[in-house]
Amino acid sequence: MRLLFLGDVVGRAGRVAISERLPDLIRKHHLDFVVVNGENAAGGFGITEEILQDLISAGADCVTTGNHVWDQREALQFADRYDRFLRPINYPPGTPGRGSNVYTARNGARVLVINVMGLLFMQALDDPFQAVSRELAACSIGHGCDAVVIDIHAEASSEKQAMGHFLDGKASLVIGTHTHVPTADWRILSGGTAFMTDVGMCGDYDSVIGMEKDEPLRRSTTKIAGGRLAPAQGLAALSGLMVETDDTTGLARRLAPLRIGPVLDPAEPDFGDAR
Ligand SMILES: [Fe+2]
Ligand SMILES: [Fe+2]
Repeated sequence: MRLLFLGDVVGRAGRVAISERLPDLIRKHHLDFVVVNGENAAGGFGITEEILQDLISAGADCVTTGNHVWDQREALQFADRYDRFLRPINYPPGTPGRGSNVYTARNGARVLVINVMGLLFMQALDDPFQAVSRELAACSIGHGCDAVVIDIHAEASSEKQAMGHFLDGKASLVIGTHTHVPTADWRILSGGTAFMTDVGMCGDYDSVIGMEKDEPLRRSTTKIAGGRLAPAQGLAALSGLMVETDDTTGLARRLAPLRIGPVLDPAEPDFGDAR
């Protein structure tokens, strides 16, 4: 099975890049399943129902989120109505929506996706390691699903790497989101799990993590907020990771980063059968 995970979509620029490029990428690379992190899709802060629908229409089989999930208050209303929408699983009991779900990929495989948030330099949520363990006890590769994708939305590289090793051999892919900067450490861990500390963002990289530079610079240099943060509106680059899994074990066979658009060094996976 072939999976694509795309990092945090930031604002209109990120959304345009997704809608213009994702349908072609799905065809060209024979993608069976696509996960997109959409936590910054609406003006950099949260996601609306309309934008969620647009991401799904463009080819996202699952839209994950993170600390910005409720920035658009309407998300509290629609979260329960969309199977394809996930919020971090380790929010308190009673939080709207769901933190994991099993989906049927285009090749018929059942894919468990779990969205979980780290604790270091983040909100004090339930323990992410316990939360993921509970889910995998109920549904694991060969027992309820054929592949497992974990979006660990966290600030600290250490926590994301710990999650990768914690789940090595139990997940097809453990991938970090939230920092909006792609790391160069994509690899298959010794137990067979694909891992990347942070997948980066789908947004305008001529920016401060997707936002227009003026206000972040003002805040950094004067320590005084001068206005709202707004997404940068230049051409966006897509940043993601493509993973091919073994249909029997559900573990990773090969992986390659995807970076399409300005600023970043371009990279498009070539698994030998691109159309
Ligand atoms: Fe983000
Ligand atoms: Fe975030």
